[in-house]
Amino acid sequence: MPMDDSTMRSALFDTCLGREDTDSLKWSRYRGRDVLPMWVADMDFRCAEPIIEAMRRRVDHGVFGYAVAWPADYEAVIDWVGQQHGWAIRREWILWLPGLVPALNVACRAFAGPGEGVLTFTPVYPPFLVAPTFSGREVVKCPLRQERGRWGFEPAALAEAATPQTRLLLLCSPHNPVGRVWTRQELLEVAQFCVERGIILCSDEIHCDLVVEPTCRHTPTATLSAEIAERTVTLMSPAKTFNLPGLNCGFAIIPNEKLRQQFLQAMRGILPHVNILGYTACRAAFTRGAAWHRELIAYLRDNRDYVYQAVNALPALSMGPVEGTYLAWIDARGLAVEQPAKWFEQAGVGVSDGKEFDGDGFVRLNFGCPRTLLEQAIERISNAMATR
Ligand SMILES: Cc1ncc(COP(=O)(O)O)c(C=O)c1O
Repeated sequence: MPMDDSTMRSALFDTCLGREDTDSLKWSRYRGRDVLPMWVADMDFRCAEPIIEAMRRRVDHGVFGYAVAWPADYEAVIDWVGQQHGWAIRREWILWLPGLVPALNVACRAFAGPGEGVLTFTPVYPPFLVAPTFSGREVVKCPLRQERGRWGFEPAALAEAATPQTRLLLLCSPHNPVGRVWTRQELLEVAQFCVERGIILCSDEIHCDLVVEPTCRHTPTATLSAEIAERTVTLMSPAKTFNLPGLNCGFAIIPNEKLRQQFLQAMRGILPHVNILGYTACRAAFTRGAAWHRELIAYLRDNRDYVYQAVNALPALSMGPVEGTYLAWIDARGLAVEQPAKWFEQAGVGVSDGKEFDGDGFVRLNFGCPRTLLEQAIERISNAMATR
């Protein structure tokens, strides 16, 4: 008997996998304690069957020498980016990467000199804040603004933050942690500013395939105009979308030959090759993962709606609408506690501490998990709230 959509979705995502006794970074943090881990951005879902099958076949071959991208790997990326985002990219623009965090660090070394500025919008995924400092570049922070719950750029703040020494912008699009899928107009304003000031854009689009709000659409920064494409390094990966972050496979798309060479020069001898299983998983995800991906988005959308309503119904907590990512950025300042993340942990829910994102008083909760787990987390938070 054919399964209807909700039965299929439930079969794919409702199972609690039991990761407590595995090598999971997410679950090992609270091993032996009754705390639900809802921090680091990896999802508690088994990955798509076609990916597992492809990896199984690759493992059965039994030889694990150095790997190189296969023409089919490039085609998989080109087709996926074309179909999902309407961006026609060329094979020679693609540089394979063993992770996007290393790529943020490479971008700082490639496009800013020692002591020069690297701009970023805060709050933001912590590696954006520390990557510049690791190579002696200066972090230039431009705060995002929240208006009626919704986060946005403030053009005046951008002009105020940037200095003549600012060389690079690390842009997070969609934005982790605030969950915005930037509109074309918002991106244009930021990118146009970079054109005027001669700033290179590094656009981390790792969450681009996780748009949960049906009225939003991701715009790759480099598609805004030919001029903007010429100064943009785009970072993408199947890691978040297909829950493969432990396989270390991503890529940069750099249309401008000069920037590509600068980036390559800065990564040479430092970044390792992508490993065999990473290539295999990436190819399988992009060529045979579309059906799983569609179901995932529907499941995450339901989780998003649930968490949004539940959090905003609680006294002392609030969150804005999540358009993309599976991360809720919760304003916990109303708790009036010194360390909100500790308060959540004591309630039995392990969240990311907003302080690390330059968002004091906030916490980030990962809702990429079976619904029952999410309901338990909300129940624990409600109970702790009721007894405080
Ligand atoms: C914006 C952003 N960039 C990069 C990463 C991590 O990338 P990788 O695991 O490929 O280094 C994350 C993970 O959460 C992220 O949110």
